[in-house]
Amino acid sequence: MHSPIVVLKFGSSVLENHDALPAAVLEIYREIRRGRRVVAVVSAFGNRTDELLSSARQLFDEPDPSSLARLLETGEAEAAATLGLALDQAGVPARILDAGQIGLTTSEDILDAEPHDFDVVRLRQELLDVPVIVVPGFSGKLKSGAPALLGRGGSDLTALFLAHGLRAAECRLLKDVDGLLQVREDGSLDYGTRYATASYDECLRVGGPLIQPKAVEFAARHNLSFRIASCGSGGGTLAGPVKSRFESVDPAPAPTTVVLGGLGTVGLGVFRWLQSLKTDFQVVGILVRNLTSPRPEDVPSHLLTDSVEKLLETQPELVIEVVGGTGAAADLVHQARAAGSRVVSANKQLLAIEPELLKETAFGNGRLMASASVGGSVPALESVASLVQREEVVLVQGILNGTCNFILDRVNGGIEVEDALALAQDLGLAEADPHLDVSGLDCVYKLSLLATRAFGEEVTVDLIECEGLDGITAERLQQATENDGELKLVASAKRTSSGIKARVGLEILLPHHPLFGCEKEANRLVIETEGHRQVVFDGKGAGRWPTTVAVVGDVLQCRRADLSTGKERGLRRAKAS
Ligand code: HSE
Repeated sequence: MHSPIVVLKFGSSVLENHDALPAAVLEIYREIRRGRRVVAVVSAFGNRTDELLSSARQLFDEPDPSSLARLLETGEAEAAATLGLALDQAGVPARILDAGQIGLTTSEDILDAEPHDFDVVRLRQELLDVPVIVVPGFSGKLKSGAPALLGRGGSDLTALFLAHGLRAAECRLLKDVDGLLQVREDGSLDYGTRYATASYDECLRVGGPLIQPKAVEFAARHNLSFRIASCGSGGGTLAGPVKSRFESVDPAPAPTTVVLGGLGTVGLGVFRWLQSLKTDFQVVGILVRNLTSPRPEDVPSHLLTDSVEKLLETQPELVIEVVGGTGAAADLVHQARAAGSRVVSANKQLLAIEPELLKETAFGNGRLMASASVGGSVPALESVASLVQREEVVLVQGILNGTCNFILDRVNGGIEVEDALALAQDLGLAEADPHLDVSGLDCVYKLSLLATRAFGEEVTVDLIECEGLDGITAERLQQATENDGELKLVASAKRTSSGIKARVGLEILLPHHPLFGCEKEANRLVIETEGHRQVVFDGKGAGRWPTTVAVVGDVLQCRRADLSTGKERGLRRAKAS
């Protein structure tokens, strides 16, 4: 069974500048968490196309269309490359493919061409290798291989054209407004009334500069539905072969109030991403260990406190715990839950050793979310949860500790464990207490959370056998090399006729093994279901940004859930009155 494909188009109004990159990465990551593969089509940043166009017109009386097309397509190429870099930093595996690589051919009208064809098989094949393909929109190739442009706003057309060819499950055009708004008689926009659904004709009538008319006409010719929405949206407008219908919306929902426990490697990353999502979140307090430690300038000192009680006096709707360990972190999580706040935590140790938290993480109702506790940017818990809804899982197996994997990578290449650990610490991969990594315990906590979710029964840490990196010997390393294999720290839990067998330990992996070739701080998870179907998930497992993407992914999911509950409540009230 192949994962569904979604085509997301990031318009210039969304990619206004580099500050918008976290929102774009999170929108893509949100789809990966849902088990989908993503084609991300990008427009140029902000006014880049206009700037390039006007500079060409200022410099040259009649710019030659072919050279102009080459100049203008650099805007989309820059945006695609930059988004690719942002995804890589966040640990989300992605590949950039331009029009030439996907064989996107067009008619011969250089500045306003029609797309003709693309290599569907190649794009589908690439999506089996990596979950995200980034495509610069707007341009295609003439028969000669020279560039041609799809007209102003042409990235919308690129997205719909690819979605149609790929038979994508969804195509979402991401804009700076959450859907098509009602236009009042005087021509102004009513921000409180949006089209829930819009016919093609209505899109053409009121879509104005928001959607390229040529793209809507393409969709209409092919009976293709698509959404117009903002990043993080729960809906937006569904356009297609439908009758137009309005719905009331809250034009400016209040930001969710958030407190942040911990301002270390991960905490600072989370703080900065929340600051870039200011219309959605307001950070009202930050818990730190030492108030007098030096801090970056962008952290307002009035938000800092070293007291859990003071932090929670702000009555936040959401508490993020990235303190780590079982001291202050436990106080914060318990008090926050007692006060009725939603909690997002990255703390595998705390969640695995407290039975109530273990159960809630595995089977809870979303009031305690912990995606970042296992796998970093690999949506490990979500993937297991969604698989077990359909099939019985018989084995979960993975490389789940980025630090140990990084160390073993170096050790397999002849470097000492201590030196490699020091490097991993410098890179912000290791735990504050690195013994948790090298002893294998960090993996034990993660396996406990994963296996509990996978098998529907508590796999507590005392049931998991554990071997750490002190099991590395010259003989084992030599044996691995002689067999073209590699020594790795593997976590696995298997359902057997005598119960769940769970183990963390060193194993020699040979090249045919699904976990073979997992490099540096990468994590990989293999889930096997009854019938021997194997599903593999990859991503970066440790470090500031891969953990941040998972934490903020949870935070955004909480906000969407709260907003949609609020909306339902509003609708129920409206019906009752
Ligand atoms: N120290 C952990 C690791 C961090 O290296 O995997 C992510 O859980």
